[in-house]
Amino acid sequence: MIAEKMTQAFQWTYNENDQEFSLHGSLRPQRADELSNCISALEQSVSNVSGMFYVNVRRLVRMNNVAFHALGCKILDLVRTRTDLKVHVTTSSVVGWATRKFAVLETMSDKITVSEYDNEFYPGQSFVEDSAFIHVLRTQTKLTWRHEKDLLAKHGLKPGMQVADICCGIGDFAVLLQKEFAPDRLVALDHSRASLDYARRVASDFGVRGIDYVFGDAADMLLEDNQFDFVTCRHSLQVFDRPERILKELFRICKPGGRVYVTNEKNSHCLGEPRGESIQWTYTEVAKLWHHFDMDIEIGPKSRRLLIEGGFEDVSIGSFMVTNTDGNPQDFADVIESWKKLFADTMATQRGDDEAFKEKFAKGFDDHIFAALHPKGYAGWPIWVASGRKPL
Ligand SMILES: C[S@@+](CC[C@H](N)C(=O)[O-])C[C@H]1O[C@@H](n2cnc3c(N)ncnc32)[C@H](O)[C@@H]1O
Repeated sequence: MIAEKMTQAFQWTYNENDQEFSLHGSLRPQRADELSNCISALEQSVSNVSGMFYVNVRRLVRMNNVAFHALGCKILDLVRTRTDLKVHVTTSSVVGWATRKFAVLETMSDKITVSEYDNEFYPGQSFVEDSAFIHVLRTQTKLTWRHEKDLLAKHGLKPGMQVADICCGIGDFAVLLQKEFAPDRLVALDHSRASLDYARRVASDFGVRGIDYVFGDAADMLLEDNQFDFVTCRHSLQVFDRPERILKELFRICKPGGRVYVTNEKNSHCLGEPRGESIQWTYTEVAKLWHHFDMDIEIGPKSRRLLIEGGFEDVSIGSFMVTNTDGNPQDFADVIESWKKLFADTMATQRGDDEAFKEKFAKGFDDHIFAALHPKGYAGWPIWVASGRKPL
């Protein structure tokens, strides 16, 4: 059973199967008593547990000292009063000092252990690695492929190449590449185990062979230098706070003379008619929301500069617009609906936005859907495609 409770800026979840109590969002109380409901929920969760109890704070994007003290004292109290109990705390480097702080608890009791989920955890990862994101990615690729199929060839992808798709998500793009371009080798790398599991399942269900799905960190890949003729990285430079670091890795694994291909958005340029004003307002807010979490969903037109500054030559950039007139307008409406859930609900809640704001924010997505499904309406989502050659 999963118990869940929400407050304005943070939430907690208890997963009985995993004996894990997780905290999400921004945990910055002024006084300890603001956490009393959360601490009671923790007490209630642990009451039926013996053996290892997991406290997971890795999905917190912010945390202050008041919160650390309240949690730390509760954990110490638990292991001291309950002889049958051990506690493991999982932190992340997003809240930089949390690992250091919680590690002190390890020195105070041998029944407490602490580990950092990942030394290379990025601010946006808490959203994009979530399995809830799978639906967003799936519907997006469905719409972009009709454009990209031709563009990829124009940017130099040919059958029989050695190809890598970095930050491959759920792997549906890799499957399409495999079918359309029959590469000699295709490596698809991501840092989300949920997405990779999904990707492997889809490839096996569809009887698609030859894709090597690997777990890894795009900023520090175990892949060797100068391996691939064509390296793709779609919609992903925008989830990192330092995209140039990822680009450096893409450059490294690309063969001299090979090309790196990136796609990125500029969300504030999403548009629609009728109800253009509300749509425009909402997507401008999306850009601000991503910025809050140290991600840049406006990178699209900046891709040319990033590639040139990354040492690439023969840089080529263009854009295309996914619209409701491309095919079934409902497909586009589905994508917008999945953005609404992620942006106006999950992410806005984690930022601590109030209900009035979230309602207005959500309305712009509803209006975009209205425009997409309106018999005389027009709705668009622009995407920038850029590639550059690694010098010989
Ligand atoms: C916006 S999604 C794009 C996915 C896919 N390229 C697509 O277009 O559908 C960003 C992807 O980057 C992955 N990611 C985030 N941080 C990563 C990292 N450090 N290393 C590898 N992948 C990462 C996420 O798990 C997610 O699948």
